[in-house]
Amino acid sequence: MSNNAVSRDVKTAVLVSGGGTNLQAILDAHIFGEIKNCELAAVISSNSDAYALTRAAHAGIPSYVIDRKIFPNRASFSEAIHRKLEDLDIDLVVLAGFMYVLDPPLVRAFRNRMINVHPALIPSFSGMGYYGLHVHEAALNYGVKVSGATAHFCTSEADAGPIILQKAVEILETDTPQTLQRRIMEQAEWKILPEAISLFCEGRLEVVDRRVIIKDL
Ligand code: GAR
Repeated sequence: MSNNAVSRDVKTAVLVSGGGTNLQAILDAHIFGEIKNCELAAVISSNSDAYALTRAAHAGIPSYVIDRKIFPNRASFSEAIHRKLEDLDIDLVVLAGFMYVLDPPLVRAFRNRMINVHPALIPSFSGMGYYGLHVHEAALNYGVKVSGATAHFCTSEADAGPIILQKAVEILETDTPQTLQRRIMEQAEWKILPEAISLFCEGRLEVVDRRVIIKDL
């Protein structure tokens, strides 16, 4: 699908692993009309206990479990996700609190059509091993005064693809990894991820080398 052609709503699948607060931000923004030209077609969870599945059910979005635990390796897990995305004829994949790195064939198949949210200002505190609370522990241990979140397109290298949006959040001296995680979610992730999805679905993103140009309507 060309990102410029907005002929039908963009069929979007959201991949989740846990609590799904980013999924909730997407669901809410969609209901309020803040995400345009987007059909939320599926939620796919890497774990059957994820509360994100309950959020999908409340919103009436079909959900599927592709349980990481039953696959012997990352390649077979990624292949199963790939097959499901193709069966559902998905145009855009959103990783919203999805805790696994996917294999290159799947990422390449969705080149510039797979968006991840990372809870730091990439390239800081990103890449292999930086996920969930580990990211905020690392930022606090380093002593940075500002962190934030990044919405970016995925490439085969973890957290290294073209950056769509970033938002900075101030670090407080009293912060713990938990308080910092929560503030970054509230002030940054829950805003920039729905916005990045809408920009994509409106056909307003153009990738030039590793820069993302946001086009005016
Ligand atoms: C969020 O901060 C998300 O950015 C992060 O896990 C948290 C859980 O989100 N994702 C990663 O670290 C992936 N690399 P959730 O409440 O949306 O499930």
